[in-house]
Amino acid sequence: MYDKLYIFDTTLRDGEQVPGCQLNTLEKIEVAKALDDLGVDIIEVGFPVSSPGDFNSIVEISKNITRPTLCALTRAVEKDIDVAADALHFAKNKRIHTGIGTSWYHITHKFGSNQEEILQRAVACVKYTKKYVEEVEFYAEDAGRTENEYLAKVVEAVIAVGATVVNVPDTTGYCTPAEYGAKIAFLMENVKNIHKAIISTHCHNDLGMATANTLSGILNGARQVEVTVNGIGERAGNTALEEVVMAVKCRKDIPVHTGIDTQKIYRTSRLVSTLMRMPVQPNKAIVGRNAFAHSSGIHQDGVLKNRESYEIIDPADVGINESSIVLTARSGRHALNHHLERIGYKLNPQELDEVYQKFLQLADRKKDISDDDLRVIAGTEQNERQRRVKLAYLQVVCGKSSIPMATVQLRIDGETCTATASGSGPVDASFNAIRQLIHRKVTLEEYLVQVITRGSDDMGKVHVQVENRGNIYYGFAANTDVVTASAEAFIDAISKIV
Ligand code: KIV
Ligand code: ZN
Repeated sequence: MYDKLYIFDTTLRDGEQVPGCQLNTLEKIEVAKALDDLGVDIIEVGFPVSSPGDFNSIVEISKNITRPTLCALTRAVEKDIDVAADALHFAKNKRIHTGIGTSWYHITHKFGSNQEEILQRAVACVKYTKKYVEEVEFYAEDAGRTENEYLAKVVEAVIAVGATVVNVPDTTGYCTPAEYGAKIAFLMENVKNIHKAIISTHCHNDLGMATANTLSGILNGARQVEVTVNGIGERAGNTALEEVVMAVKCRKDIPVHTGIDTQKIYRTSRLVSTLMRMPVQPNKAIVGRNAFAHSSGIHQDGVLKNRESYEIIDPADVGINESSIVLTARSGRHALNHHLERIGYKLNPQELDEVYQKFLQLADRKKDISDDDLRVIAGTEQNERQRRVKLAYLQVVCGKSSIPMATVQLRIDGETCTATASGSGPVDASFNAIRQLIHRKVTLEEYLVQVITRGSDDMGKVHVQVENRGNIYYGFAANTDVVTASAEAFIDAISKIV
């Protein structure tokens, strides 16, 4: 019987530390939902003391995600731990990840301290955290360059005061697989109370060995791995979730199993890449564009005769076929329903009818409809049905040398009203016209437009955040016309106020 390997995803913490990859709260919730769907066991949602934005995101994710354990990072500092406990207040399953540097570099240069004092601080921070949560994970930062005897002493001491998971980070990505595996084996053999905690790997990819080190850690007894989607992370990144999960799935000689729904790997990879604006290199293992593309004649011939001649993974196992083009304007209601059910939407006949109309409108403007498009149509349709305020009509005038103007017609609880306004551009003019109709002071705090796949006929996804009387409301919409999507997203947020 294979052991369970816990998947601890740190895309939203270590992954998000990459300059330029920061996400807003809405995007973090979207990633957290995708990770939940993918089946990860623990989501590290941030470092709450680092900024009010991070703190707020953790609060919001905690309200939205209930199955996986949500984990917040701290230093070995009481204030950090207090703030983390506060940020996780609404989380159903929670964990605090606290720790301190244990290598000579950290002890001497970062803290100007000594091994005994650091050991005391490690014990004190775990004891303090235990006041707030049952699950306490301790990290020995730069464990990769920490002497094994001292590391074992620290690990034994923190387990004795209640650490339930001990993380052994190769913070600088310096270890080789043999060395990292030997470190985990040393802890398994020399820490008397090791059976009371789970050992976790946390490897960085500076020498391109993060996945190899992680697998070596598993083979020597680690039962939790800390990973990010697409291996995103500072410098050369962290261990890639998809690489470890698929290695464990393919290789029967690695005696563990995970709870990951591998068919959702590809779509999660795409989502993270788009939201973090971090393209995936074409030859990236598992999720790169070329990961399953055979170009040489010999390979193509071999794969056609028997896929396993040249492929160790069926692309469908990571959801690659699923994400390819599925429908066109000629597809009927039955085909649409089939594909909606396949991606998790069960609609009644009336709902299917409404989504089908939207599908036809989109198929008129866009040649091929993908799963991502279907998710947006079905999702926004469900959203719109519940709204009290609906966009009935929108016309904008804009372009070089003209004053942007918008005429908007809304239906509010069945009543129709119309307004025209100008603005700095067509979106601003539309928002001004909508403001006139709802008679409320609404401040736009955030406005974000993204395309789902590629091409100028693509769907634009719009997220907005508005403020009214000190409260924040979020709105979302998607359309091939980004001005319409923007107006719909603004109305989506406003409907929650009205
Ligand atoms: O790489 C590292 O050491 C870390 C710790 C803070 C867990 O990310
Ligand atoms: Zn790290």
